[in-house]
Amino acid sequence: MLDKKMELALNNQLEKEAFSSYSYLAMAVWCDQKSMEGCSQFFYRQAEEEHMHMMKILAYLIERNGQPIIPSIKKPKSDYKSIYDIFNQTFAQEKEVTQSIHDLINETQKLNDHSTQNFLQWYVSEQREEEAVVMKILDKIQLIGEGPMCLYYIDKEVEAINKQIVSTEAKA
Ligand SMILES: [Fe+2]
Ligand SMILES: [Fe+2]
Repeated sequence: MLDKKMELALNNQLEKEAFSSYSYLAMAVWCDQKSMEGCSQFFYRQAEEEHMHMMKILAYLIERNGQPIIPSIKKPKSDYKSIYDIFNQTFAQEKEVTQSIHDLINETQKLNDHSTQNFLQWYVSEQREEEAVVMKILDKIQLIGEGPMCLYYIDKEVEAINKQIVSTEAKA
C-alpha cells in the first residue's frame, strides 16, 4: 500500500506534468501562428510526451491502490518575447521538473519505498534527455542568431532535431 505522503507527492507531480503539457501546447500554438512549423511540431509532440508522463503516474497510482487526482490546470503563459524566450522558459520548466523528480526520490528513500523509487528512475533519464535536447536547441539559436532572417534557419534546425527524436522513439 502506498504511503499517503507519497500518494500526495505523486499527485503533485501528476499536476506538474499536466501543466507542462498545457504549457507546451501554448508554445506550439505561438510557433504555429508564426509559421515556425519545425518548432510547433516540436512543441505539439512535447505536449503529448508530457501527457504521457502524467498518464504513467496515474497508472502507477492505480496499480499501487492509490487515488489519482485529476487536477485543474492553471492557464499557461501564451505570449512570448521571442523563440529564444520560449526555449529558455522550456529549459527553466524542465529544470524545475527535474528538481521535483529528485525531491520525490529523496522522499522515497525516507519512506523506504523502493517500488516508487524504481518507478521514478525512468523519469530521471527522461529529464536528463529532455534537458540535453533543449540545451542543444539553445546553443543552436545562439550560434545562428535571432534576427528575422535567422528564424527560418532556427526552425529548420528544430525541425531536424524533432525528426531525430521521432525516429529514435519509433525504434525504441
Ligand atoms: Fe515530463
Ligand atoms: Fe518534460
